[in-house]
Amino acid sequence: MAGINENYLKLQGSYLFAEVKKRRIRYMEQNPDARLISLGIGDVTRPLPAASIAAMHLALDEMADEKTFKGYAPDGYGYSFLINKIIEFDYNARGVSLDEDEVFISDGAKSDTANFQEIFETGCRVAMTDPVYPVYIDSNVMAGRTGSYNDGGYSGVTYLPCTAENGFTPELPEGKVDLIYLCFPNNPTGMTLSKKELEKWVDYARKNKAVILFDSAYKAYISEPDVVHSIYEIEGAKECAVEFRSYSKTAGFTGVRCSYAVVPKGVMGLTAAGKSVSLNDLWFRRQTTKYNGTSYIIHCGAAAIYTDEGRRQVREMVGYYMENASIILQGLKDIGIKTFGGVNAPYIWLKTPNDIDSWTFFDKLLNEANIVGTPGSGFGPSGRGYFRLTAFGKKENTIEAVKRLKNLSLKP
Ligand code: MLT
Repeated sequence: MAGINENYLKLQGSYLFAEVKKRRIRYMEQNPDARLISLGIGDVTRPLPAASIAAMHLALDEMADEKTFKGYAPDGYGYSFLINKIIEFDYNARGVSLDEDEVFISDGAKSDTANFQEIFETGCRVAMTDPVYPVYIDSNVMAGRTGSYNDGGYSGVTYLPCTAENGFTPELPEGKVDLIYLCFPNNPTGMTLSKKELEKWVDYARKNKAVILFDSAYKAYISEPDVVHSIYEIEGAKECAVEFRSYSKTAGFTGVRCSYAVVPKGVMGLTAAGKSVSLNDLWFRRQTTKYNGTSYIIHCGAAAIYTDEGRRQVREMVGYYMENASIILQGLKDIGIKTFGGVNAPYIWLKTPNDIDSWTFFDKLLNEANIVGTPGSGFGPSGRGYFRLTAFGKKENTIEAVKRLKNLSLKP
């Protein structure tokens, strides 16, 4: 029998959202007439933008004609027509310049953030904000970069607590770390980091020769002016940061799959002998070996969101979800629950009433209000006593969920 990678045995029983789904299914089996409302996993409910649909239909027709048929996408990066739109609209428009070979089209920020750690040595010291999107931690556990799971977290990882007490602003690590995962606007708290705070992280990374893995999958939801959209708006970030973006939450592509990673050529790693190596070269090498490219049809669907109508349709979609966020925020405020986020992100992070444990609150909501949310403790030790609701539901379900929350008995 082949030996296994025993790091997998350190992982918690199931991936957080798989556990939530398991409990939801079990409840439905036992209560087949219940009308559950899911505000748990951040999966979208609005149909794709009409501009993307039209572009994908046309692309499919091209695939049906031998004169325009296409096989594999260009090696490593993806099609230039999408990369150039990304550079123009997502970066140049924010004063950031990038070369075409610094952008890699992929199939999701989940896979990119999970895979990127592969190009670093196992001994790298990893820091991540806590609570954290479980993919960052689980992929490092699988790679053997952590010890075992204990008391809500893994040993060997530098957790950077983000709680109401510190305004969800992580402190710089005391010692030296090599890889830093930051996600802003944040999943799960929905909070952001000011430009000044982000500058501290870029300074830290440059001084300590660390790499920041910056997930900005939720940037389309930023509504306040002082929030940075890209880490490259911070001077020096092109020497120390890789950025991940996705069309899942921006344009409803969760079931379509398209994203991109920006790996500036100035971000370097070190060999054991102390020689600098370009992460861009390594990522290109990794992608050409392990990924055969996002399909042409999907590229066309993504490129269409940069047209005038595509941009308007995306704004409408984001507006729809952010209206849900306001409905949830107001509803929770009305019943005296303390909330965070929901202004620059589609997630509402709430303090559980009477400090009840996150999974107990999950069961209470499921059993008494037929609402599925996500327990804060599933995102890391600092998520204990918190709970996450998403704004990605249908508006009528969101209104109904708030009505049910208002009828819930919150007495200790
Ligand atoms: C979430 O609920 O946190 C999201 O669905 C995460 C993801 O995009 O994978």
